[in-house]
Amino acid sequence: MTAIDPKVRMTDIVTTVTALNAILDPVRGTRRIALVPTMGALHEGHLALVAAAREHADIVVVSIFVNPTQFGPAEDFDRYPRTLDDDVSLVQSAGVDVVFAPDVSEVYPAGDPVVSVSAGELGDGWEGADRPGHFDAVATVVNRLFDLVGPDVAVFGEKDWQQLAVIRRLAARRPDHIRIEAVPTVREDDGVAQSSRNRMLSVTERATAAAIPKAHRAIARRGASPEVVAAARVHLEHSGVHVSYLDTVNPDTLKVSHEPGPARLLFAGTVGTTRLLDNWAVEVPDER
Ligand code: PAF
Repeated sequence: MTAIDPKVRMTDIVTTVTALNAILDPVRGTRRIALVPTMGALHEGHLALVAAAREHADIVVVSIFVNPTQFGPAEDFDRYPRTLDDDVSLVQSAGVDVVFAPDVSEVYPAGDPVVSVSAGELGDGWEGADRPGHFDAVATVVNRLFDLVGPDVAVFGEKDWQQLAVIRRLAARRPDHIRIEAVPTVREDDGVAQSSRNRMLSVTERATAAAIPKAHRAIARRGASPEVVAAARVHLEHSGVHVSYLDTVNPDTLKVSHEPGPARLLFAGTVGTTRLLDNWAVEVPDER
């Protein structure tokens, strides 16, 4: 295994915790380590996470692990894109130091019970309502990755706003004070959020998905009142987007909020058979 020199960015690809520790143990405490947890199928959005990681640390570790426990029985675990070779080339060109691509048996070893973490109330609504247990599984695997990698900082995208809230809460409860850095959503030219799931859309479905950022633009123009949001929802349905939810929430508690002032607009919906998520900072107008 090569020693890490921050000036020479050679990417080590490791699949075991032993190999990971052989690289990281010698530099723990003297170099800052950033973790970018991913499920692979990497795209420009992930490169933005890597760039942020690089700003906050000397050594960047990208984990690639399609976590089976966070997929529901009717979800797309088998369909989830697995593109390890492309992923590795992409992160190599982005100057990542270590790719940690473990098997399920490394993350969840038989006979070594993994600590289950509850996402608490933050995990119950929105995605959690449609996908029971999903955020407990995300909190559990991220907690596990934090234990295995031992980062000083971990980087997540704002695109999965609820996940980000759950992980902030997880980090706040851990004793090791891992700093959570949030990176704004990277968008395609028409405003559709970059997502690994976009690869599952047909050409027609991808065109339909453009209605999602368009709905946000209409809401941003008119102010995110409940009436405007409801009208945007109807418009989305007419455009072929089956909306699971579209509502304004308190950005931290994720509780529905129609209070005038800043809020987060959360969206989830299905185009064809692919579920897409998005969210935006919006302003609820004072109409009193
Ligand atoms: O956002 C993701 O890709 C996953 O939910 C994460 C955080 C890597 C946990 O499996």
